[in-house]
Amino acid sequence: MSLVEIHGISKSYGAVQVLKDVTLDVAKGEIIAVIGRSGSGKSTMLRCINGLEPVQAGVIRVDGTQVNDPKTDLRKLRQEVGIVFQSFNLFPHLSVCDNITLAPRVVKKQAPQAAREVAREVLARVGLEDKLDAYPSQLSGGQQQRVAIARSLAMRPKLMLFDEVTSALDPELTGEVLKVLESVAQEGMTMILVTHEMGFARRFGSRVVFMHEGRVHEQGPAAAVLAEPKTPELQSFLSAVLH
Ligand SMILES: Nc1ncnc2c1ncn2[C@@H]1O[C@H](COP(=O)(O)OP(=O)(O)O)[C@@H](O)[C@H]1O
Ligand SMILES: [Mg+2]
Repeated sequence: MSLVEIHGISKSYGAVQVLKDVTLDVAKGEIIAVIGRSGSGKSTMLRCINGLEPVQAGVIRVDGTQVNDPKTDLRKLRQEVGIVFQSFNLFPHLSVCDNITLAPRVVKKQAPQAAREVAREVLARVGLEDKLDAYPSQLSGGQQQRVAIARSLAMRPKLMLFDEVTSALDPELTGEVLKVLESVAQEGMTMILVTHEMGFARRFGSRVVFMHEGRVHEQGPAAAVLAEPKTPELQSFLSAVLH
């Protein structure tokens, strides 16, 4: 069974249709790199997958649970589907440990000491075990983004969504965040990432999905799709981003 099943979803904001009959299945352990021009619907698709946005047609299931069913407990779903954005959204007045343990303590009722141990473990996975008691302002942008990823991991999600998580970073800080994504991928996490990092998509994406004007316009194995795009739209997108 697919971990994520998206069948024929459509979504509009007012009169503007931003997702048009999107269908996409993601198997457990797959790394999907979503690429496409600004405004093609990439972020909207991610937000629909964890129920942040309603859809007007179609079905989305995550691990068998229908996201767009009014009876579904979206709070529970969002514990299982982590999402990390371009802006790290850490609480500036909370330590790294408190940023990471807030949700596990409030939502999962973890005891403070147990939550701190989880924070220590997830920080080690992003290479920041020494920053447990630091404050966000004491960290670089790349380190803050790694803490944001650790915070998501602390909820033990089944699926992680990443929306251009390196786009706000200086180029020299991008590499350290990509390395963390790579190690999370190697741990077997199922990931859907919107990215402009074509090199990363080629090396770690099991599949590339190209979105164009609200549709999945072309998709396939990462290396093949990027080396031999079939549609003129993907050809022109790739020649614009690669040159
Ligand atoms: N909250 C919103 N209200 C109205 N229009 C929106 C909203 N969010 C996104 N859009 C529109 O939906 C389209 C797709 O946006 P988005 O999913 O953010 O694209 P991408 O992530 O590929 O750049 C764009 O035309 C954008 O202007
Ligand atoms: Mg976007």
